[in-house]
Amino acid sequence: MSTLLPISVLISGSGTNLQAILDAAGDGRLPVRIVSVISDQADAYGLTRAAKSGVPGMVLEAAGGMNREGYDQALGTLLEKSNPGLVVLAGFMRILSAGLVRDWEGRMLNVHPSLLPGYRGLHTHRRVLEAGESHHGTSVHFVTEELDGGPVIAQAKLRIGPGDTEQTLNARVQALEHRMYPAVIRWFAQDRLRMADGHVELDGTRLREPVIRDEETWLRS
Ligand code: GAR
Repeated sequence: MSTLLPISVLISGSGTNLQAILDAAGDGRLPVRIVSVISDQADAYGLTRAAKSGVPGMVLEAAGGMNREGYDQALGTLLEKSNPGLVVLAGFMRILSAGLVRDWEGRMLNVHPSLLPGYRGLHTHRRVLEAGESHHGTSVHFVTEELDGGPVIAQAKLRIGPGDTEQTLNARVQALEHRMYPAVIRWFAQDRLRMADGHVELDGTRLREPVIRDEETWLRS
């Protein structure tokens, strides 16, 4: 019997990516066991999704006066108790301190809704539209101390149409994330993927660029 990789998922909101991971794990497409879901928002719908799947959900809110280091120490303690082999940031909207990131380096992934290194930070859909870009997308990367700056593993790329709005781009990007993120987590769980010397290695080969697939290809996968 193959072993399941224990993972913790960190969320702040709706948790549609969490749902995609729960679904893939639930029907055997993803060899992971979700040992904890941690939210910094008590009302995050993702916590309901976790509860419906019987996965332990935890809330860690930034109490008044708690600074980033204090919060991240508490978060680190929670993570250590869950003892995951991989931490998955899925719409977790806090910036992590350097110490916490270092503790989990090579064992922490994030999904960011842009074609990194372009459009780090917030409001990516609005900013690509305002800039008149022809393409947009989303990226999964290893988390390093540089915000949205860690080595990129995979990207999903879409062509922006004349009718696209922030809302349509959000929906198209998320549909791609729901395919790509479980796929990347599967590579990690299968020991095919690792970070070495600040670079991505897939199947023993250092990637010179991320695995980039277009919208149709990811949706077919
Ligand atoms: C996702 O689209 C993800 O790319 C984005 O938040 C959304 C969470 O959606 N992450 C970031 O912006 C991180 N900088 P979800 O809660 O439905 O999974």
